[in-house]
Amino acid sequence: MINSIMEMSSQELIQAIQSNKLKVCVIGVGRIGLPTALSFANSGLTTIGVDINKHLVDTINSGVFPLKDEPGYDSIFENVFREKKFQTTTEIKEGVPASDVILLSLPTPMNNQNVPYYDALKSVGKQLHDHLTKGSLVIVESTIEPGFVENELIKIIEGDDKKLKAGKDFGIGVCPETANPGQILVDFEKLPRLVGAIDDRTANMITKIYRHVFTVDLIPMPDCKTANAVKLTTNVFRDLNIAFVNELAILFEKIGIDTMKVLEAAKTKYNFQVHYPGAGVGGPCLPVNSYQMLNLAKSVDSGLLRLVRVGREVNEHMPQHVLDLLLDGFAEASKQIQDSQILILGISYKPDVKDVQLTPAEPIIEKLKQLKAKVKIYDPYYKSTEIFGIKTENNMVDALNNTDALLLVTAHKEFHDLEPTFLVSKMKTPIVVDSRGVIDNHAAKKAGLIFRGLGRGKIESS
Ligand SMILES: NC(=O)c1ccc[n+]([C@@H]2O[C@H](COP(=O)([O-])OP(=O)(O)OC[C@H]3O[C@@H](n4cnc5c(N)ncnc54)[C@H](O)[C@@H]3O)[C@@H](O)[C@H]2O)c1
Repeated sequence: MINSIMEMSSQELIQAIQSNKLKVCVIGVGRIGLPTALSFANSGLTTIGVDINKHLVDTINSGVFPLKDEPGYDSIFENVFREKKFQTTTEIKEGVPASDVILLSLPTPMNNQNVPYYDALKSVGKQLHDHLTKGSLVIVESTIEPGFVENELIKIIEGDDKKLKAGKDFGIGVCPETANPGQILVDFEKLPRLVGAIDDRTANMITKIYRHVFTVDLIPMPDCKTANAVKLTTNVFRDLNIAFVNELAILFEKIGIDTMKVLEAAKTKYNFQVHYPGAGVGGPCLPVNSYQMLNLAKSVDSGLLRLVRVGREVNEHMPQHVLDLLLDGFAEASKQIQDSQILILGISYKPDVKDVQLTPAEPIIEKLKQLKAKVKIYDPYYKSTEIFGIKTENNMVDALNNTDALLLVTAHKEFHDLEPTFLVSKMKTPIVVDSRGVIDNHAAKKAGLIFRGLGRGKIESS
C-alpha cells in the first residue's frame, strides 16, 4: 500500500496508477465482481478479491475460472493468475487494510415480500469500520437505492466513534455496474460508466482510476444518489416497456395479430425502442430495480410510481398466462394435464447465461407441480443436475421422447432452430407453447403441432 491516495495531488495519483503501485480490493467476486476484479488486475494493478463463499474462493485460488459463460474472461483470468496479479480470500482483514481502493460488488436482492435489502453492504460496511485504513477510497458498484450511500453506508463505515470521517479520512463514491451477464467483457468495453461521489475531488480520483482500467466514457454525476438514480431509471424503463409489450401480446393474441410481426415493423420507426414479450422478467436486476425504485418512492409518498407497480403486476402475471396457453393446448388435444409429461426448454432467466435468479421458469414449474404434471427440464446450462427439485435432462432429443407438451421458457441459441416437423416426429402429444417467438407459428400449424405462441394468436386450421 502506498501513502494515502486522499492526500495525493492529481499528478501523484496518475503516477501511482501508471506505475501499478495502487492496490485494489474487490469485495464480492460473483457475476459482476469477478470480471471487474480481473479487469483491474489485467490493467496491471495488484488486485485481491474477498468473498464469503469459501468454495468460490478455493476454486479461484486453485486456478479454475468459475464463470464459463463469460466469453473472453477465461484467458484474462489465466493471464492475471499466472502473473500473480489476482488472488482471493474469505477474510476482509486480509484484503482491506492492504488496499488503497476498495470496490463493493455485493448482492442487493429482495426478500420474498419483494422488499429490497442491503444486508451484505451493511455487514461489509461494519467490517470496513474496523479494517479500513486512513486515506483509502471506497467505491460502491452494487445497484442501490438513491440515498443509500449518503444516508446509511457512510454512517455505518464511520461508526459511532467516527474513527474515520468520510470525505476527510476516506473517500467514498459510486460507479454503478451496468453490464449484461454473458457479455460482460463486451459491455465493459462499450457501456459508459457513471461516477458519483461524496465530493468532486473523490469523483475525480475515481475517474482517473477507472480511466486506467476501462476505455469507456466516464460520465460525471453531481453525487452518488443521482448516479444510482440513473442506473435504476434505465432498468425500470426496460421493465415497464416489457410490461407494455406483454399486455399488447395478450391483447393481440386474442384478436389474431402476431405481436412479433408488429414489433418487427414498429422498430423501423426511428423513435421506437423494441422490447419483446415473454414468460416473465427475471434476473438479479430488472425486477429488483423496479422494487428499489418503488421502495424509494414509498419513503416519500406511497402513491407515487403507480405505473411501475402496475408494470410489475403485469410481468409477474406472465408465468400464469403462459400456463393458461398450455392448458388451452391440452384442451385442444382433449388431454388431462395431470400425470402428463411436460418438458420445459430453458430455465435461465435470459438466453445464453447460466443464471436462474428470479427466473419465470420457477413459478411455472411450481404451478405445473401443483397441477400434478410430470415436469422435465432441458437447459444446455443445467444438464444432468438437480434444480427446483427436478433432475434435469442431459439431451434435448432424448428428453422429447414420451413428452406430451413442450414449453419453451428461455430462448437459448440451441433452441433457435427447433423444427416443428422434428418436434411432431418425436413427441407423444405435440402440444407446444413458445413464450419467446422462436417457432414460426404457420410452420407449427402446418407440421401438425398443437401450437400456442405467446402474443401470436391461434392459427385456424384451413
Ligand atoms: N448480475 C447482473 O446482471 C448485474 C448487472 C449489473 C449490476 N448488478 C449488481 O451488481 C451487484 C452484484 O451482483 P452479482 O450479480 O455480481 O451478484 P452475485 O451474487 O453473483 O455476487 C455477489 C458475491 O458477493 C458475495 N458476498 C455476499 N455477501 C458477502 C459478504 N458479506 N462479504 C463478502 N462477500 C459477500 C457472494 O458470495 C457472491 O459471490 C448487485 O448489486 C447487482 O444488482 C448485477
